[in-house]
Amino acid sequence: MTDARRVHTQWSSRMAFILAASGSAIGLGNIWKFPYLTGDNGGGAFVLVYLLCVAALGVPIMMAETMLGRRGRQSPINTMLALADEAKASPLWHYVGWVGVLAGFLILSYYSVIAGWAMAYIPKMSSGMFSHSDAAKAGEVFRELQGSSQLQFIWHTLFMTATMAIVSMGVSAGLEKWTRYLMPLLFVMLILLDGYAMTTGGFGQGIAFLFKPDFSRLGGEGVLAAMGQAFFSLGLGMGAIMVYGSYLPSHVSIARASLFVAAADTIVALLAGVAIFPIVFANHLAPTMGEGLIFQTLPVAFGQMPAGATVGALFFLLMFFAAITSSIALIEPAVAWLSENRGMSRSAAAFWSGAACWLIGLGTIFSFNDWAGYTWFGKNFFELIDFLTSDLMLPVGGVLVAVFAGWIMRPADSEAELEMGAGSGYRVWQFLIRYIAPAGVGLVFLRAVGVI
Ligand code: PHE
Repeated sequence: MTDARRVHTQWSSRMAFILAASGSAIGLGNIWKFPYLTGDNGGGAFVLVYLLCVAALGVPIMMAETMLGRRGRQSPINTMLALADEAKASPLWHYVGWVGVLAGFLILSYYSVIAGWAMAYIPKMSSGMFSHSDAAKAGEVFRELQGSSQLQFIWHTLFMTATMAIVSMGVSAGLEKWTRYLMPLLFVMLILLDGYAMTTGGFGQGIAFLFKPDFSRLGGEGVLAAMGQAFFSLGLGMGAIMVYGSYLPSHVSIARASLFVAAADTIVALLAGVAIFPIVFANHLAPTMGEGLIFQTLPVAFGQMPAGATVGALFFLLMFFAAITSSIALIEPAVAWLSENRGMSRSAAAFWSGAACWLIGLGTIFSFNDWAGYTWFGKNFFELIDFLTSDLMLPVGGVLVAVFAGWIMRPADSEAELEMGAGSGYRVWQFLIRYIAPAGVGLVFLRAVGVI
């Protein structure tokens, strides 16, 4: 194929890919977004639809996206162009790559603001200000941060700068090593919080809320949100996994790596949910408080634990780390394209894409204070960007990847690239990707607009 394909660097091993892909998947989506969306959408039924989407759409599409990346070995846009050429299909397919670049940009713009909140909570926690505090105090502290555009401006700028700095240093620079230790630590912290949740008196109610489906509480838009969250949390439909796949050495099992990443991602989200809802109910809070949910509940838990100030600060530090390994994935498709096609250095590419995200992010900051009154279709700026990306662009991007991998690419090529052996694995994947993915996403869209 092209020169780019030959000189493109590769991961040192299968483990390195798994670490990077889990780093991309596990982030604010699991700890911050999954709990609040579950709360907003009535609990168990939302969780069930989410899990179904992860299994039936997420895993096969993750395999497809990784596979396309490995075969193309370039930025998503150029990969789609090269693969369309290989399959003698229309070059228009490269717009899939563009949808991804745009979605990544828009997501990162608000992701950075929320990651900034997590950063702001590191000094807040360690100051001991939440010691023995109640939910009212935690709510007050959060609203003060959300109301201040200046404070959020500072943290958002810091987070974006950190992202740009790391991205300009290159793919494997140091991060793999950190992910290997910090992700398991985050896991341990969540288990610790789950242990605390069991002592709150709200545990039974919290678990019932999460795992007892009540479909009367899940409307069409809730079903759409559950599907969008599956794509968002796995980091699918925008080229991030395609980029990581492009660095994957041949002969690594894509199916096994994808299953592992999806399982780890789902477990982390569920552990976060199990930690948070008991605290919500024990403190007589409403699960529907939206994007501030974890910031108004977890500090109460830390405030009541021994050494809670330190443990809490460490938790938000780990959350920051989880966010940064995702933000790198969000910006990578744009950076890869700018350096491949525009001859920019990695640093320049990282700077300009980061600056653009930073600018759009200001809209999210203002949507919580100065612009709170401006809404479109009942959504403020932040909610609108989130809806457009998670609920529309990612699923559409994912389906296009599925259609390309299932129908456009020659089956001989996808079979060769997936290397699933002689069993029925490849057939199952092909069925899911050809029929279930497009039909599933289509049905959810129709349900959301009320047609079914
Ligand atoms: N999966 C990340 C999270 O859950 C967010 C993300 C979305 C990362 C899309 C990459 C691509 O926080």
